[in-house]
Amino acid sequence: MKLNQLALAATSLLAATNHVLAETSDSSADSLLWGPYRSNLYMGVRPKGLPHSLMTGLMWFNIDDYQGLNKIRHACDMGDEMKGYGWEKYDPRAGGIQTFHDTEQKLELTTEFVKNAEGTNWGIRVKGVPKDGAKSTTIVFYAGLEGEGKLELENKHDKGDNGVSGDIKLGGRSSRLGSFDIVMSKGDNKFPKSDHALAKSRPAHKARHLSLNIPDDNVWMARDVFVTMMQDSIQKYYEKYSEDTELPPWVITSLEPIYQMKGNFHLIQRTFEGPFEFDILFNQRTKKAPRISSSNFNAGLEHALDVFEAKFESAFAFQPPFSDNPKKYGNFSRELFSNLIGGVGYFYGTSMVDRTYSEAYEEDEEGFWEAAAESLKKGIDLATEEGPFELLTTVPSRPFFPRGFYWDEGFNLIPILEYDADLSLEILKSWFALIDEDGWIAREQILGPEARSKVPKEFVTQYPHYANPPTLMLLLTDILEKFKAAQNDLSEEAFYNQQMEEEFEFEAGVGVAKSIFDNPSLLGTTHWKSPELLTSYLKEIYPELKLHYEWFRRTQKGSIRDWDREAFSPREGYRWRGRTPSHCLTSGLDDYPRADIPHTGELHVDLISWIGMMTRSMKQLAEFLDYKEDAEDFEEIETAIVRNIADLHWNPDEKAYCDLTVNEFGESEFACHKGYVSLFPFLLKLIPIEDTTEKLMPILELLSNPDELWTEYGIRSLSKSDKYYGTKENYWRGPIWMNINYMIVKSLQYYGEHPEATLEFRLEAARIYKALRVNLVNNVHKSWEETGFAWEQYNAETGKGQGVKHFLGWTSLTVMIMALPETIQTI
Ligand SMILES: *[C@@H]1O[C@H](CO)[C@@H](O)[C@H](O)[C@H]1NC(C)=O
Repeated sequence: MKLNQLALAATSLLAATNHVLAETSDSSADSLLWGPYRSNLYMGVRPKGLPHSLMTGLMWFNIDDYQGLNKIRHACDMGDEMKGYGWEKYDPRAGGIQTFHDTEQKLELTTEFVKNAEGTNWGIRVKGVPKDGAKSTTIVFYAGLEGEGKLELENKHDKGDNGVSGDIKLGGRSSRLGSFDIVMSKGDNKFPKSDHALAKSRPAHKARHLSLNIPDDNVWMARDVFVTMMQDSIQKYYEKYSEDTELPPWVITSLEPIYQMKGNFHLIQRTFEGPFEFDILFNQRTKKAPRISSSNFNAGLEHALDVFEAKFESAFAFQPPFSDNPKKYGNFSRELFSNLIGGVGYFYGTSMVDRTYSEAYEEDEEGFWEAAAESLKKGIDLATEEGPFELLTTVPSRPFFPRGFYWDEGFNLIPILEYDADLSLEILKSWFALIDEDGWIAREQILGPEARSKVPKEFVTQYPHYANPPTLMLLLTDILEKFKAAQNDLSEEAFYNQQMEEEFEFEAGVGVAKSIFDNPSLLGTTHWKSPELLTSYLKEIYPELKLHYEWFRRTQKGSIRDWDREAFSPREGYRWRGRTPSHCLTSGLDDYPRADIPHTGELHVDLISWIGMMTRSMKQLAEFLDYKEDAEDFEEIETAIVRNIADLHWNPDEKAYCDLTVNEFGESEFACHKGYVSLFPFLLKLIPIEDTTEKLMPILELLSNPDELWTEYGIRSLSKSDKYYGTKENYWRGPIWMNINYMIVKSLQYYGEHPEATLEFRLEAARIYKALRVNLVNNVHKSWEETGFAWEQYNAETGKGQGVKHFLGWTSLTVMIMALPETIQTI
């Protein structure tokens, strides 16, 4: 059976709840089978769509003394002192390069990753250079096979010292992967030597190997297993030798020789002296697919880098001033994007959901948040496991948020849609497959024990009355637009693809069998080329989307009539559930100020805007699929929402869109806090162009005023003149966030280029657009240069990156901004 068939067969077992892999395009799905899909690890490869199969990972530490042992590198950790790390260039179908500037472990480490075109085989080349006088580095590679099958050492342990000479080879077989082998080469390296008596029993030029039996769902604890085994060894000798200055640390941290046991989990440990280089090669043992070897590895890597460059440059055609300075922005932009796409992970496992019905969850009584808080507390213990589910997703941050977040995902997929549309569609579908019968989708996807181990208990449970901004729907509009554009100039596209393929061929170099690494499906554009494929994709997700949409309108409904509010439609008003006096976590904007005291009569302007956008996306989708009745229904709702945003939320005194609440006399009134929330009708393009002077112009004034939202680093989240500016957690009360800034730039372009807007407006929009675009990119760049990292948010006073480090979810939207025109068309 071929691997793609195996993958499909395996997935069909899961199809009842989920159908990630589906039948997109076999060849393109294949080239994505293997990847560094263990997003939380510095380097860990597993296949997607095949839970309970092979899991691999890498660890390292300096062993000149015992300091390095406290911080063994395995899972990405914010506390690990590194001057930057991550993918410099990465294509998910071909491979790429990851580097680690590990100051604490005194090591410059590189992991190069390649795959063959069929996607069946892969290799990692690990290169290390000790720094700052450091000498010895220990590397641990492990492989664990979960589920049925076997994985065995094919070398023999040497007699006497029980190490393994030469390359190490594991042979394995499983129903899902067939027969395969994994080689860890010895390489042409130097190993530390010692005349100490103890060193004789564990010479460093031989690898230490251990095999154990580990139950399913436990291989992720490989680091703990390794540490436990190593401690056994240390304890045994420490007392005896603790005063012995002649004994090099690597000797007693070497795994204790244990006679070969047959297990599904293998630890391989090597200690090098000075710079080192070796390969880890995974190959299917079928005759058809050519093997990846140490000798063709470089050709594969060069090919991967060529693929990356070609795709990157066509996806993000940078515009001035960024295109004028490729030296300055070249590495920066490639790293930002590569870390987003290199962070894509495959997750599998159960989710904790509280399904106990509680009236408190309706939030319909006065003081509801107190009752809700009580119920939520109980909910933590009442939660039950649901699933297992699987999810292919980007992650906001590998060290801090290594899992899927619903509200981040729509933003994260925007650049991926440009680079590899097929992959972004597959991820999107994976998410939509999680929509339950009711139409709900959990906002945080904490699947399985490994993901849960990273989350405090009180945040694990998901509640089926909680919503989150439906950013994935935002992507639908982009998909339809891009598809139409691609179809419009199909001939041009064909020409371009041909050129690109020729370029690959040319650059892949001489002496490489083309079939090993080359494959046109590496482009990831099959959905753009085939209307049938895209249509069937959209038809498949449509019913779930509609359910999801209806869930939003039903569960987050607010009341208009109860508080004598006058509006075009008595129906279209919305209220986030999950409010407390200080927070509205469900809105995604956590501590952004709302009405001081939560009220059941509140209406939230950001939420009605999100639902307006959702309605418009559903309408466009229904039109595309020729579902006429649905399209008409959606259009009617869209009109009502646009009218109601103006009727309910526009505050003529403040000249801003505001939330509504109910005062102590039972009267409806505005709750105004200018900032991101008040911008939402603008961000989601729900302000009629007739309102240019009355409503759009004041928005430009708000954006461009340094006493309100303008800074030299981007648009701040809350007006400097708001009484809550910069207070308490100061999370969404001032700091600059890239996701919202991206929407601002896009809306400035949209309204600024609108032929029916006034010239005065267009000129002002163009002025702000041009300055903001440059400010945003340059600030993220400056911070990256200073710290080596991209950040979750940026300080509104200094521009400095802050919050979560190595945040390459929506901060990577920077590359989209670089590809926007320098100026917008005002005439
Ligand atoms: C870009 O990155 C490469 C690889 O790390 C490096 O060799 C090169 O010097 C960098 N270029 C600039 C202009 O910093």
